[in-house]
Amino acid sequence: MSTPHLFTPLAIGPVTAPNRIAVAPMCQYTADDGSMTDWHLQHVMNLAMSGAGLVMVEASGVERKGRITHGCVGLYSDANERAMARVLAASRAVALPGTLFGIQLGHAGRKASAQRPWEGGGSLQAEQDPWQTVSASAKPFGPNWHTPEALDDAGIAHTVAAFVQAAKRSARLGYEVIELHMTHGYLVHQFLSPISNMRTDQWGGTHEKRMAFALHLMDAVKAAVPASIAIGVRIAGSDWIDGGVTIDDAIQLTAALKAKGAAYACVSSGGLDPAARIKVGPGYQVDFADAIKKKTGIVTRAVGMIVSPEQAEQILADGKADQIALARAFLDNPRWGWHAADALGVDLPRPPQYDRARKALWPGEALKRG
Ligand SMILES: Cc1cc2nc3c(=O)[nH]c(=O)nc-3n(C[C@H](O)[C@H](O)[C@H](O)COP(=O)(O)O)c2cc1C
Repeated sequence: MSTPHLFTPLAIGPVTAPNRIAVAPMCQYTADDGSMTDWHLQHVMNLAMSGAGLVMVEASGVERKGRITHGCVGLYSDANERAMARVLAASRAVALPGTLFGIQLGHAGRKASAQRPWEGGGSLQAEQDPWQTVSASAKPFGPNWHTPEALDDAGIAHTVAAFVQAAKRSARLGYEVIELHMTHGYLVHQFLSPISNMRTDQWGGTHEKRMAFALHLMDAVKAAVPASIAIGVRIAGSDWIDGGVTIDDAIQLTAALKAKGAAYACVSSGGLDPAARIKVGPGYQVDFADAIKKKTGIVTRAVGMIVSPEQAEQILADGKADQIALARAFLDNPRWGWHAADALGVDLPRPPQYDRARKALWPGEALKRG
C-alpha cells in the first residue's frame, strides 16, 4: 500500500515538513506582558509531540499595542524572546525528529485592546487598562469597540519596522517558518478589505492600493531574515459579507505575495466584520484553498472544521490543498497525529516512553470508545 498523502513529506520553500499535518496557531491569552508562561510550556510541548510535521505557535504581537488582549503573546522585547526560547527549546527536545516550528506574527489593529474570550471578548472597559488602537482608517470593528487612529505614513513605517524586528527575533529563535497574519480582521486584513480601509492615499482606494501594505510587509520581512526560513501568509478567502474581500481578491493577493517570495498560503476567512454570516460546516474553507492552489500554484494549507484523518486525507487526495491544519481537534486530542497514523495504517514513531499505549502492545485499546 502506498503511503497516505497525509504522511508524505512536503517542501515549503526552503524547508521540508516530514508530513502534511500542521497544528494551526492558537492564542492562549495566558502571557505575561507578551512573555510565554508555564502554560505555554505544557501547551507547545504537548503539540510538539502530536505527530504533526509543523507546529505553528500562536499569533504573536509585533508590538505591545498590537496584541489582541493583555494576555496575548508578543515578540517585542528581550524578555518575550527569552521566554519563547525556553518554550521552544523544551518543545524541540520532545518533538519527533524533523518537526518544524513556525511562528505567526501579527498585529491586531482595531481589534486590539480586547478582553480575553472567557472575560467576554469585547473591547476593554475603562477600568481594564485599555489602550489606543490603530487601523487603516478610523472605523471601529463594531458597536462598542474602540475607535482606532488611522495610521499615517510614519505610523505605517513604525509598524513595518515592528514586524521586521519581530521577524529578526523569530530567526534568532530558530523558527523554520514565519507566517504573516493577514486575516481574521486583524491589521493587515484591515488594510486589505474595502470594509475597513477607506483611505485615498497610496494605501487604499483600489484593490492594488489596499494590497500595498501586505506586499510591502512581505518585502520588508523577506529582506530581514535568512533565505533558509520559509515565509508564508495566512489570508482570508472571503469576508463573508457584501462589499468585502472575495475569493478573486484573495487569488490576486496570493499571486502577488508569491511573486514576492511567499512560500505558502494558509487559507482561512472571516473576522473582519461582526455582521458577516459565515457558512460554517465540515471543511468550509477548503474550496477557497482549492481555488487559490489551482490559480496560483502556491503551496496551500487548508484549515477549518477538518477533524478526522479520513477527511484530511481526502482533501489532499483530491488535490485541493498541500497541507492540512487543525486547531480545535488538537486541543481536544494533542496526540491527533498518532491516531491519524493508526487510522491510515502508518507506522509513526512515538516517544518510546509512551510506546506501551500502542494498539499492538495495549489490550485496553480495544475497550476505548469512538
Ligand atoms: C483557541 C483558539 C485560538 C486561536 N488563535 C488563532 C491564532 O492565534 N491565529 C490564527 O490565525 N487563528 C487562530 N485561531 C483559529 C484557528 O487557527 C483555526 O483557523 C480555526 O479554529 C478553525 O480550525 P478548526 O476547525 O480546526 O478549529 C484560533 C482558534 C482557537 C480555537
